[in-house]
Amino acid sequence: MYFKFPKDFLFGAASSAVQIEAGVGEGGKGEDVLDHYWPIRCEQYGHADPKLSADFYHKYPEDIALMKELGLKSFRFSISWSRIYPNGPDEIAQAGLDYYSDVIDTLIAADIVPFFDLWHCDLPYWVIERGGVLNPEFIDWFAKYAETCFKAFGDRVPYWSTVNEPNVNIMAAYAWGTTAPFENDINKCIKACHNMILAHFKAVRIYKDLGYTGKIGFVNHLQLAYGLTLDKADQDAAERDMAFYSNWFNDAILLGHYPECILDYPYIKDNLPEGYQEDLDENFIPSDFLGINYYSSYVIAYEKNEVLDYRNATKDMFPEDDYGFTINPQGIYDTIMYARDRYPGIEFLITENGISKKKWGNYEEELEDDYRIDYLREHLRGVSRAVAAGAPVKGYYHWSIMDTNELYVRGYEHMFGLIQIRYDTLERVPRKSFYYYQKIIAAGAVN
Ligand code: NOJ
Repeated sequence: MYFKFPKDFLFGAASSAVQIEAGVGEGGKGEDVLDHYWPIRCEQYGHADPKLSADFYHKYPEDIALMKELGLKSFRFSISWSRIYPNGPDEIAQAGLDYYSDVIDTLIAADIVPFFDLWHCDLPYWVIERGGVLNPEFIDWFAKYAETCFKAFGDRVPYWSTVNEPNVNIMAAYAWGTTAPFENDINKCIKACHNMILAHFKAVRIYKDLGYTGKIGFVNHLQLAYGLTLDKADQDAAERDMAFYSNWFNDAILLGHYPECILDYPYIKDNLPEGYQEDLDENFIPSDFLGINYYSSYVIAYEKNEVLDYRNATKDMFPEDDYGFTINPQGIYDTIMYARDRYPGIEFLITENGISKKKWGNYEEELEDDYRIDYLREHLRGVSRAVAAGAPVKGYYHWSIMDTNELYVRGYEHMFGLIQIRYDTLERVPRKSFYYYQKIIAAGAVN
């Protein structure tokens, strides 16, 4: 018994600039939020010095050679905005464009389809200094940056995502206070989310107006919420959890309106910007795909409280990885089917899925990642079953191609990579899971 994938299925792996590039300040790169804050906001960023990461900036030829050996069909990566616009929205660094241009050419020469995110967990520090995503001018800064990237690379890059996990990143910045500008304000959070949605639409419109024929969409963190029981109260509570966290951006961007089931809650209603629906109506433009980052599932129960009337009842329902993600392989299938029913006609890419272990400090032993092999097998089975059931899933990107800077306090303590990075020598060593994934890709099937 085995599980097949379509012939043109994009078996991929992903990573992001700020998590593997290093090359801080090189090629005219401007100061990034992480460069600025990691030494002074240690409680949030303490172990995440970006200078220490895998140095993809210099080592990409070697890394892409390893991707070719793996048989990778596509690599999902991000452009660092501060390499392209180092000091503000008016001055372009040609060296930054040249660097990504070389990365793209090297991928294409290795027969690997490039997929690029415009914003993945980093931001130029000048964006924060000028008011961040909350400043409505953000929409134009982002659109200008997007246009520059499309014009430079649009003829060679067939997959574009405007933003990665806007739910996590903007909520962290404005509602949870854990990333810059460290606010705890739901009103600012909802306004910043709205600006990001308008920035997405503007970038998509520019891409389409320029006549490119590739696909453009965005990537979101979908956290599946099951109701604790079949009782309507629990099922509705689970739906509200999905609405607030996963569907806020998905519905606005793909359906043109915010999730209706929470719009009447004072917590939401009192904080929405005036004229929000007119903004969505005037600016809406269809996206070509939704990128799904799937890691975990939750169980939600109804509970009366002041905010959104539910509580997380997940405790002890699923095992957790060392990172704190619950592990539920059935959830990847359920998430895809949920998204298929909610967003008919949209294509999906699984843009991230992966497991982490905390390092225990022995490089050789840390290559034996049977836990990742089990995880890959179980989750790929789920994806294959969803495709067989008719869901339009075009690809799967494992997170991550190599060990990453996990940002914030976790920094370099975690191992997400198919390829191990020995940070003291920057040597790259494929893990056992690399060879397992290599066989899957070659066979176009999972056991
Ligand atoms: C999702 C984020 O996009 C990525 O940057 C992060 O490293 C992984 N989750 C794992 O936490």
